[in-house]
Amino acid sequence: MSSYATLPADLNPHALPKHVAVIMDGNGRWANKRGLPRVAGHRQGAKTLKALLRCCKDWGIGALTAYAFSTENWGRPTAEVDFLMVLFEKMLRKELKEMHREGVRIRFLGDLSTLPASLQREISRAMEETANNTAVDFNVAINYGSRNEIVQACQQVAAKVEQGQLTPAEVTESLISQHLYTAGCDPDLLIRTSGEQRLSNFLLWQLAYTEMYFTDAFWPDFDRTEFHQALATFQSRDRRFGNAKDAVVAVQSVGQDTVAAQAALIA
Ligand code: IPE
Ligand code: IPE
Ligand code: MG
Repeated sequence: MSSYATLPADLNPHALPKHVAVIMDGNGRWANKRGLPRVAGHRQGAKTLKALLRCCKDWGIGALTAYAFSTENWGRPTAEVDFLMVLFEKMLRKELKEMHREGVRIRFLGDLSTLPASLQREISRAMEETANNTAVDFNVAINYGSRNEIVQACQQVAAKVEQGQLTPAEVTESLISQHLYTAGCDPDLLIRTSGEQRLSNFLLWQLAYTEMYFTDAFWPDFDRTEFHQALATFQSRDRRFGNAKDAVVAVQSVGQDTVAAQAALIA
């Protein structure tokens, strides 16, 4: 642990992701493997999330977004859904003071209006109390579905057009982004645990150029060593955003002959 208190020496502090998103998957399988009920995995998973948030702060990563409950997760057995709702509320009650002290700004993404009233109250309290904190941004996606998020953004924009506040030509990518729950803050790195390699309706718009990292570890086992591995992989990637930097430089450096040769190849 001690060697992980600060950023590991092989990581470049100037090339860290500014915003990490996690699909916390595999709690149930983690518990099954131990002969425990699935909910024991959720309880352990909540501890893992808390530890990862602390790690982000220690290592200088400014924002963490975690997928805690999808719009599709309502289809699980009622007892599991109820357990999760109570767990979210208990965690908030228990951890809010410390998070506030540590400068965490907590926000919730998703349709919060259908969550249990007592959970909604804790959520509002947490968001209000921590709204001016600046050490680390912590976003928790609860009752979150990306398609649903895009639909509600479209509805808000359409209403503004109808009221004459916007013209159709003013509906741009950045305008749509501003109407999403994440309000223009896209992750640089997405991590999904448990070996699954899909997005499960998470941040479909925001992940357009995000680097993705998949690990077989179940979420409750995702510790600093695992996170270190994910960040090392991130730093080894070449993010091009659709450009071909090397090719452009190569053509410029060898001059017009190469351009002519390439044109001949295409013709
Ligand atoms: C992720 O773990 C937590 C939530 C979706 C709430 P799972 O509960 O999906 O665990 P597995 O995938 O069944 O192992
Ligand atoms: C995605 O995990 C949702 C969360 C982690 C909250 P799921 O376990 O619900 O996703 P699927 O069913 O494997 O796609
Ligand atoms: Mg799962």
